[in-house]
Amino acid sequence: MKIQTLEKKLQVTTAGDTTNQVAPGDEVFASTQFKRPTFLMCAPHWYDVRYVINPWMAGNVSNSPRDMAFHQWNGLYRALKNLGDVRLIHAKEGSPDMTFVAHGAVVNYGVAALSCFAHLQRTAEEEYLQTWLEDAGFIVWRSEGLPLEGEGDVLFSPDGKRLWAAHGSRTSIQSHQRLSNVWHIDVTSLHLVDPRFYHLDLCFVPLSGGHVLYYPGAFDRKSLARIDEAYSLRQRIAVTEEEAVQFCCNVINVGSDVLMHASRGSVANRLRAAGYRVSEFPLGEFVKGGGAAKSLALRLSDLSVTHRQT
Ligand code: ARG
Repeated sequence: MKIQTLEKKLQVTTAGDTTNQVAPGDEVFASTQFKRPTFLMCAPHWYDVRYVINPWMAGNVSNSPRDMAFHQWNGLYRALKNLGDVRLIHAKEGSPDMTFVAHGAVVNYGVAALSCFAHLQRTAEEEYLQTWLEDAGFIVWRSEGLPLEGEGDVLFSPDGKRLWAAHGSRTSIQSHQRLSNVWHIDVTSLHLVDPRFYHLDLCFVPLSGGHVLYYPGAFDRKSLARIDEAYSLRQRIAVTEEEAVQFCCNVINVGSDVLMHASRGSVANRLRAAGYRVSEFPLGEFVKGGGAAKSLALRLSDLSVTHRQT
């Protein structure tokens, strides 16, 4: 869909909901239909480490028992359901990484920017997810061939006013400006320089309370300066390399709750000290594939709903 067309479409509400309808021409966006924090998850029916497209998968090929993965996924699913709604998309046979559904798109105001995966192994997920998103009422925008990996590399600030977008091995820098046009908001580009942190969601997360949880070693100097400019020292929660490799930044944030992979180190307690309610889950089977909590859930509700304090 062309951007102009999309911009016009954004003047009306999506998903058949008239509650937030705005008159054509209003300088406001439509909203998603979700009134509670809502996420999309995909059970690991076909999950497997079957190829190597990131450094974490090396050495783990065919080494992730699916019953254990299911058990771990279920713990996270149940916890997220306690905080809001979880929609499910069926896993697709032949797409063993589909359980990492957060990388399939990035969503706000009823618009889903669909991913264009860098690796052939994940491209079959695109059309499958597109159908689900359209059936759910989203307007789907495509990057027309520019590599882009959804919430893996693109994250909104909690007020929805800024996009943080990474480029490195997965998402192209050219896609950033296009995304900024889609939502008419500023985009801040960050350059990922450590192959272990091939996605932004492994080393950076803006949190609802105005903090950022991040691993400085994953970024180049310019990117660090941009982070420093946006967040005061008090707002920056930097993790050590040892914590970062346990995917401590790959967290789901709903209101003041944080769901994360159980890990050694002080991150959970530092988050608690900053005012968050932290729950930890063993997600080791997914670490073998290169992801943890955040990568297993795609945010569908607008940020104002997702982060409403309860
Ligand atoms: N195997 C998947 C991939 O490499 C894992 C994705 C999980 N990544 C993450 N950013 N948490 O695409």
